[in-house]
Amino acid sequence: MKRQKKDSWADSTLAIHAGESKHGVGGPVAASIVRSSTFTFSDTAEMKRWAEGRSSAYIYTRYGNPTLTVAEEKLAGLEHGEAAVVTSSGMAAISSALLAALQAGDELIATRQLYGGTYRLLRDILPRMGIRVHFVDSDLAGAERLIGPKTRALYVETPTNPTLQLVDLRAAAALARRHRLVSIVDNTFASPVLQKPLTVGFDMVVHSATKALAGHSDLIGGAVVGSRQWVDQARKMVIYLGGCMDPEGAFLLIRGIKTVELRVARQCRTALAVARFLEGHRKVARVHYPGLPSHPQHRLARRQMSDYGSMLSFDMKEGLGAARRVCDRVRLFLLAASLGAVESLVVLPIFTSHYKMSHAELRAAGVSPGTVRVSIGLEDPRDLIADLKQALDGS
Ligand SMILES: Cc1ncc(COP(=O)(O)O)c(C=O)c1O
Repeated sequence: MKRQKKDSWADSTLAIHAGESKHGVGGPVAASIVRSSTFTFSDTAEMKRWAEGRSSAYIYTRYGNPTLTVAEEKLAGLEHGEAAVVTSSGMAAISSALLAALQAGDELIATRQLYGGTYRLLRDILPRMGIRVHFVDSDLAGAERLIGPKTRALYVETPTNPTLQLVDLRAAAALARRHRLVSIVDNTFASPVLQKPLTVGFDMVVHSATKALAGHSDLIGGAVVGSRQWVDQARKMVIYLGGCMDPEGAFLLIRGIKTVELRVARQCRTALAVARFLEGHRKVARVHYPGLPSHPQHRLARRQMSDYGSMLSFDMKEGLGAARRVCDRVRLFLLAASLGAVESLVVLPIFTSHYKMSHAELRAAGVSPGTVRVSIGLEDPRDLIADLKQALDGS
């Protein structure tokens, strides 16, 4: 069994071959699902070496598993990180990364434009653990003034869910470096196909692998990618708190990663066509898509992303009632949360990702009651536009 060299591979090659073992004639081509919770030691001497931290043998799947390792090596390669740990969900990745960086008494600076679940974790749970969170806008204005002796980490998401605001990755990483903060970014919306935050100085990238990486709406998973030092700390949290990925899930993730580049490229083309169509519709007040020249951060998007992504959102002129009618009238788009998969989806953020948030919090996050979030899949763009047209015209 030999491991492949991956140092010089481009993304599409890495996605397919990184982490895979070649078994020679008659060996399996697809990764095997090692469906075992535990692994045997050769003898007690090996057991002792493991207990002393001198053995990297697999011992128990919560600590590591050969199928999980294949997914981890692909993700480390795609994000240009030294290592990765896969987790049971995106939220397990986010909480493990945060707890790797923070302890009671520490302070965190975070953007307030975040996936609602992350925002609620920062708002409701971290303070209960003695961690104070300061929220700033995605442009990080005023962040520097909030940094004090107890500030340990900076957490951002870009583009943001659901209004596609951008954080300047280079500026954010530089700010963190200047103040010796651990920098963490949620790269779910862009995926490593479109941006690689570790290459501009971020310490950890977190993913909901449920989305573009898995890509088929059949897996809940996550990942933390970064330097070996930070990933070791995040893995420790996964081991302590139990948020490990299941080998069956890792197999689906591996399969998804192999086509992520192709899927994202096609989704970006379709999303731009859909965004242009929506921008021209009389009932739409505003379209949020970084690929449109009307997006306030279009130039930043051009600079830091290689394309503009599969996600967009739009605000209906007539507010919530009209937004509900559009969502109730679509026939091809599915009315479902989540994103990044082969099926195109619509949701109302105020009833899904951004539930349990006050009017003021929604306003600060840029979410209006009439905001519809769209995740573009792999259907023909003409069919998607025709579906939105009939839904909007009749709304
Ligand atoms: C940007 C972003 N990060 C994290 C998450 C959480 O991921 P998961 O649902 O896999 O726990 C989501 C879920 O929608 C998300 O959109």
